[in-house]
Amino acid sequence: MRRIFLVVLVLLAFAGFAMAQLTQPTTDVLGAHLNYGRGCTACHSPHSGTAGNGQRSSAGSGSTMLWGEDVSSLYGKTITTDGGKYVEVLPTSMSADTPDVSGMLTCLGCHDGNMAPAAMMKNKVYENLPSTYGNRNSIPTLMASNGAGSYMSDHPMGLNATVDCGGTSGWDCTEANGIISMRGSASSRFITSYGFFVKPGVYNNKAVVVCTTCHEPHSMNVVTIGHSSNSGLPPGTYTTMFFLRAPYNPNDTNPMSNQTAQFCRQCHADKSNEMNGSTAGTVF
Ligand code: HEC
Ligand code: HEC
Ligand code: HEC
Ligand code: HEC
Repeated sequence: MRRIFLVVLVLLAFAGFAMAQLTQPTTDVLGAHLNYGRGCTACHSPHSGTAGNGQRSSAGSGSTMLWGEDVSSLYGKTITTDGGKYVEVLPTSMSADTPDVSGMLTCLGCHDGNMAPAAMMKNKVYENLPSTYGNRNSIPTLMASNGAGSYMSDHPMGLNATVDCGGTSGWDCTEANGIISMRGSASSRFITSYGFFVKPGVYNNKAVVVCTTCHEPHSMNVVTIGHSSNSGLPPGTYTTMFFLRAPYNPNDTNPMSNQTAQFCRQCHADKSNEMNGSTAGTVF
C-alpha cells in the first residue's frame, strides 16, 4: 500500500515536472531564420552558390553545405574575443576543413556588422523578451557593430578556445579526439538533471567553441530531447530561445528557475551545483 502511494506520488511529481517544461511550439521552428520569407535558401542555395542566391559570385561558394551567403569579405580576418585573450583567424575559404567554417564563417556572413555586409538583417531580436531584459527587443543581432568593430566583449570563440576536462574549472569528464564524455560522478549527475547539449567543434583533436557549439541555426524556440539524447530529462520538446541548443527559457514564470544558468554550466563546471556540494538539480 505504502509503495503504491509512493509510486503514485512519484508519477504525480513527474507529471507536474513534465507539464512545466514540455512545450509544443505553434510557430515555425526556423523562427527568425525564415529570413523574412526567404527560408532555407537564404543560407543554402540549391544551385550555383551565392550567385544562385542573387549575390556576387565568390570562389568556392556553394561547395560546402551549398552555402548561399557571400562570406568572402571575412576570409582570413582576425577576430579577438574576451578582451583580447582569444585570437581567431577566420578560414580563408569555405572549403577549409576546420570547424570555424560551418560554425563561425556561416553565421558571421549575416551577423557581422563590421567586415561583412549584413544580409536581410533588421538588427533586432525576433522573440518576445522577458521584462527583466534592460532594453526590450532592441538587443542587437549584428555583432561587432558597436562602433569599435571588435569582438573583444564577446565570449571566447575560435580554434584557440578549448573546452577542457579536469583542472580547476573543468568537469570530471574525459576527452578523446576532441569528443567529451561526461561520465565522471559529478558530470553524470549534471547530465541526469540537465544534459550536455553543446556541440564543440573539433580542431587538432581538441574540443573548441564556435557559434554552433551553443546555437543550432535550424531551431529557434525548441529543443527536442529523445531517448538517445545526452540528457536525463524526460523525452519531449523543451522551450529554448535564441536558437540555443539546450533548454533556455528566461521567460520561465518561476523566478527560482536555474535553467539558463545550467546552460553555462555545461562547460563551466566549477560554477555548478554538482562541483560545489549542492544537491540542487535543474529547476524549471
Ligand atoms: C540561418 C542560416 C541557415 C538556415 C536558414 C538554414 N540552415 Fe541549414 N545549416 C546552417 C548551418 C550554419 C549549418 C551547419 C551546422 C553545423 O555545422 O552545426 C547547416 C547545416 C545543414 C545541413 C547539414 C547538416 C545537418 O544539420 O543536417 C542540412 C541538411 C541543412 N542545413 C538543411 C537546411 C534546411 C532544409 C533548411 C530549411 C528548413 C535550413 N538548413 C536552413 C545554416 C542554415
Ligand atoms: C542568411 C542570413 C543569416 C545567417 C547566415 C545567420 N543568421 Fe541568425 N538571424 C538572421 C536574421 C535575419 C535574424 C533576425 C534578426 C534580425 O533581422 O536582426 C537572425 C537572428 C538570429 C538570432 C536571434 C534570434 C532571436 O531571438 O530573435 C540568433 C541567436 C541567431 N540569428 C544566430 C545565428 C547563428 C548562430 C548563425 C550561424 C549558425 C546564424 N544566426 C546565421 C539571419 C542569419
Ligand atoms: C558559449 C555559448 C555561445 C557562443 C559560442 C555564441 N553564443 Fe550567441 N548567444 C549565447 C547565449 C546564451 C545567448 C542568449 C543571451 C541572453 O540570454 O541574453 C546568445 C545570444 C545571441 C544572439 C541574440 C542577441 C544577443 O546578443 O543576445 C545572437 C545574434 C547570437 N547569440 C549570435 C552568435 C554568433 C553569430 C556567434 C558566433 C560568432 C555566437 N552567438 C556564439 C551563447 C553563445
Ligand atoms: C561550450 C562550452 C561553454 C559554454 C556553454 C559556456 N562557456 Fe564560457 N567559456 C568557455 C571556455 C572554453 C572559456 C575559456 C576558458 C575558460 O576561461 O574556461 C570560457 C570563458 C568564459 C568567461 C571568461 C573567463 C575569463 O577569465 O576570461 C566567462 C565570463 C564565461 N565563459 C561565461 C559564460 C557564460 C555566462 C555562459 C553561459 C551564457 C558560458 N560561459 C557558456 C566555454 C563555455
